[in-house]
Amino acid sequence: MNNTCDYRGTVLVAGSTGKTGLWVVKRLQHYGIPVRVLVRSARKAAVFGNTVEVAVGLVQNSADLTEAVKGCDAVISALGSSQFFGEASPAEVDRNGAIRLADEASRMGVRHFAMVSSIAVTRWYHPLNLFAGVLSMKYAAEEHVRSLFSRENRSYTIVRPGGLKDGDPLQFRLHVDQGDRIWNGWINRSDVAELLVESLWLESAKNKTFEVINEAEEVQESLEQYYGKLSN
Ligand SMILES: NC(=O)c1ccc[n+]([C@@H]2O[C@H](COP(=O)([O-])OP(=O)(O)OC[C@H]3O[C@@H](n4cnc5c(N)ncnc54)[C@H](OP(=O)(O)O)[C@@H]3O)[C@@H](O)[C@H]2O)c1
Repeated sequence: MNNTCDYRGTVLVAGSTGKTGLWVVKRLQHYGIPVRVLVRSARKAAVFGNTVEVAVGLVQNSADLTEAVKGCDAVISALGSSQFFGEASPAEVDRNGAIRLADEASRMGVRHFAMVSSIAVTRWYHPLNLFAGVLSMKYAAEEHVRSLFSRENRSYTIVRPGGLKDGDPLQFRLHVDQGDRIWNGWINRSDVAELLVESLWLESAKNKTFEVINEAEEVQESLEQYYGKLSN
């Protein structure tokens, strides 16, 4: 498996202790990229041993985020809500938290912001939105990221996956689309992580928003070709 890349810089991973975030950290380390993780408690960072820098903080707290992004070249967000109300709700995490993180990243000179969103984010009437408007919250964050990181010398990549599954990366041929036209489908979290990580150095990934699901089992060398299929 290829493990070379031209990318230089430290990457902050938000949502690092989540199922996708753990894969983002693994894939960054596969390519030898220095990682800083944002974690809600120092105890949770134990899973990484001493292989990463650790920033403890909540996405509710701008000062925590300023410290977390300081000196980072890029941010990858795999944040996600898990409760109807409170600290891990869609409004707090998927919208306000992601927006706050993007604001601090932009203010502190981060050059690239990559994030996980979801298929169907533009469809307010989708049943998933019954979970406290989670899709609409993600869409609001997407819009903010696009407006902040499409400026000069900045870039963004927004990955909208179908349903997430566990399993190793690069085991499936993928189907990518734009315009939020996919209604269902699955993808491994590890492939979402790989797409986010490859967005750090691929010019074809810059300033792209796209949907992605599995197409068929077929080992992949890299996921670069899928970025080549996207238009702006
Ligand atoms: N499940 C699906 O089928 C599906 C489909 C499409 C898109 N998505 C989206 O894909 C993303 C990744 O999914 P996943 O299953 O990997 O998520 P996950 O395992 O639930 O991870 C969510 C991460 O967000 C962190 N977090 C939550 N509230 C926080 C706060 N207030 N401050 C700082 N960090 C906070 C969690 O920290 P802790 O570890 O401390 O809880 C965790 O690291 C999510 O946005 C999800 O909505 C999911």
